[in-house]
Amino acid sequence: MDNKKVHIKSFGCQMNKLDTALVRSALDAAGFVLVESVKEANVVLINTCSVRDHAEQRVLSHLGHLKHIKESKPDLVVGVIGCMAQRLGEKLLEHEAVSIVCGPAQIPQIADLVTEALRHNKKELSVTEQIRKPAPQTGSDALEEFESAYGLADKQVPGQAFVRAMRGCNKFCTYCIVPYVRGPEVSRQPEAIIDQIKRLADDGIKQVTLLGQAVNSYQYKTAEKTWSLADLLAAAAEVEGIKWLKFITNYPSEKYFDEILHVMADSPKVCPHLHIPAQSGSDKILRAMNRRYTADWYLALLDKARDIVPDIAIAGDFIVGFPDETQDDFERTVDLVKKAQYRNCFVFKYSPRPGTTADKRLEDTVAPEVKQARNVELLAVQEEISDRLSRSFLGKDITVLVEGPSKKPHLNAAASGNNPQLVARTAGHWIVVFNGPKSLAGQFAKVKITKTSPLTLFARLT
Ligand code: SAH
Ligand code: SF4
Ligand code: F3S
Repeated sequence: MDNKKVHIKSFGCQMNKLDTALVRSALDAAGFVLVESVKEANVVLINTCSVRDHAEQRVLSHLGHLKHIKESKPDLVVGVIGCMAQRLGEKLLEHEAVSIVCGPAQIPQIADLVTEALRHNKKELSVTEQIRKPAPQTGSDALEEFESAYGLADKQVPGQAFVRAMRGCNKFCTYCIVPYVRGPEVSRQPEAIIDQIKRLADDGIKQVTLLGQAVNSYQYKTAEKTWSLADLLAAAAEVEGIKWLKFITNYPSEKYFDEILHVMADSPKVCPHLHIPAQSGSDKILRAMNRRYTADWYLALLDKARDIVPDIAIAGDFIVGFPDETQDDFERTVDLVKKAQYRNCFVFKYSPRPGTTADKRLEDTVAPEVKQARNVELLAVQEEISDRLSRSFLGKDITVLVEGPSKKPHLNAAASGNNPQLVARTAGHWIVVFNGPKSLAGQFAKVKITKTSPLTLFARLT
């Protein structure tokens, strides 16, 4: 059929990108052709994120653009999938450009929804009615089947794949929309996960990243035992062909923490990389965020991680400008960042999300310019730390997994030549740039670090 050309765009986190990959392969299996541009497409799907207002605004402005295109191409079918589809449902369907609204739990129906929309030119809505109710067995079976059938190598980054360990979130950090758009925590069956990893390994995948909003909460009871993330990592490490295992994101918690860190220390395949957001360094703010720890407790947890895995690289996230965050609260965050010695951290400005506890109970008191200044200051503090940590790599020989040619050729490489600049990652998730043949994409390479900057290590092949 001529009108089965689909263009998909992803606006969200790793979980969202994984859904996009599943949708892509499901549509491919249903006979659709995936195209690179909106121009060639009959169907445009946008996979969306609701975590901050900015993420939603980007989608809305993209929809505005698509509305224009539809003026000259009225048969174009536009579908919104993902977290924003779940959050806004019917309201999004009212948008002139939009024909399909499909929540994250409904992606198994995507090929049918698109087919129907193309055939009848009518609007299709498919979201979860009561998102915090445990999914009926049929609902989670459908997702599980979909995941197992289409969770194969997506080839976006050669040699690497993401595998979901769990869906949803039960943590209810007061600022966060995720529990309301992704639903309750469900850990996937370990056999299904390991099977999927084996198939990925057969397909040439070398690095698997296990995904979950609080992936260290993974827990699955079988007749024999209760599986934790530590058990899952140990089992995945047994899979032949898989060389590196990573997992994101961790919620600061003692449960299973030692076990997970010990698997990291003992298995050369489990990379010494821990993404474990603190969000704030002020106990008052942490309490208001419903993060269930204090700054000191969190720092002690990092100490423990470093005791067990001395070369561990730690990364974090912070929100600045949470309601009632004073200068003193912010300084505590700065202090925590100095003590935590992260490889890197992401800093976000608080964005009130409708329906969350923080939005219902607290006023967004911190002025935008104060949020901005705190954001800049915190990043500068981290940059100094990253710069110092990166310098310790100078002259070292390390193994990296190559992602592919660098998209930013302006990066100041140490050496040039006929080979393009390649981007790779270390086991600790540092970015490494060096010149080498394109054929190295998806392969491990040995390099010597010749130069460093806060976020990037420059190297040459050895
Ligand atoms: N489950 C992961 C990721 C959640 S979203 C975790 O718990 O770490 C990624 C990051 O977005 C969060 O770590 C947090 O720092 C940020 N974030 C979430 N909600 C936000 C909001 N309302 N405003 C600003 N940043 C937010
Ligand atoms: Fe959101 Fe907190 Fe869950 Fe992360 S752990 S997804 S920040 S509610
Ligand atoms: Fe991810 Fe955004 Fe949804 S962070 S889970 S795509 S709200």
